[in-house]
Amino acid sequence: MTIDNKFIDEFVNVTSRAAIASSYFVGKKDKIAADKAAVDSMRSQLNNMNIKGEIVIGEGELDDAPMLYIGEKLGTNNGPELDIAVDPLEGTNFAANNLPGALSVIAVAEKDNLFKAPETYMEKISTKVEEKNVVDLDYSIKKNIFNLSEYLNKKPENLTACILERPRHNKIINELRDLKVNIKFISDGDVSGALLVTEEKYSVDIFLGIGGGPEGVLAAAALDAFNCGFQGRFLFKTNKDKQRAKEMGISDLTKKYDLNEIIKGDSIFCATGITSGDLVSGIKIEDDKFISETLVTHKHSGLKKVVKLNQNLIR
Ligand code: FBP
Repeated sequence: MTIDNKFIDEFVNVTSRAAIASSYFVGKKDKIAADKAAVDSMRSQLNNMNIKGEIVIGEGELDDAPMLYIGEKLGTNNGPELDIAVDPLEGTNFAANNLPGALSVIAVAEKDNLFKAPETYMEKISTKVEEKNVVDLDYSIKKNIFNLSEYLNKKPENLTACILERPRHNKIINELRDLKVNIKFISDGDVSGALLVTEEKYSVDIFLGIGGGPEGVLAAAALDAFNCGFQGRFLFKTNKDKQRAKEMGISDLTKKYDLNEIIKGDSIFCATGITSGDLVSGIKIEDDKFISETLVTHKHSGLKKVVKLNQNLIR
């Protein structure tokens, strides 16, 4: 089974419209308003689609999120059964402060093929290497860098690692520095960070560190289409987190997940720029039209491209 090509344009439209809605709040120092605009737009468009959709990754649990909560059913109920992961505004700080890299993101797979992820942190690693046992979450930083260096035939000093700049990563950063690996720091937005390994033009060989679990699952969907490697391990700290994970069917709380355990089968991934970043440009207005750029992938057809839309919308 595959997801019909006709849905590609529809999902591109969903993230483009959500990005446009959020773009009104760029630089307004209001993360909540920027997020709400994207959420409202995304939800109403998904509800208009001829799908039987269910949110597996969204704005949180029903108690905390009235819209796009995990388990919410979306669509006209007349169409394919799809698992939907959303991050209507990825990089709330970026949007609120008009900084590069805010995105509106969605990933869909056929029912029961996308990991239902709780709202916790995840230890992650992505590389352009699909083969197993080259880079692994269980290896030391040194072993991963030496293996990657050998595999890519590049000296460690010619490798670049991307990592979120957080105190929790100080140990990894020091180890990378000792190995003379170049570091690309990102201040937020690790869906984009994880995807910088997909193409040579970004000059990133490995992405690693701890970020949001939902963001890890979203990135995995695109990495799958690019035939890249990804591993993630959820980090459950509180008893509430652990309990919720068990309710969601996760029995081994320390399990390391390979990409194909996070996403299976066919998938569509769309990320539209709200502000311009490494992957795509942000929303622009030209001649009263909104110009949006969306990175879209479709696993089955091998589609991987940036789509530019020019929409005549009422402001
Ligand atoms: P928001 O869009 O929810 O603000 O998330 C931004 C982000 O940088 C994610 O990309 C990343 O996974 C997470 O926050 C990291 O969390 P923290 O800021 O707590 O380290």
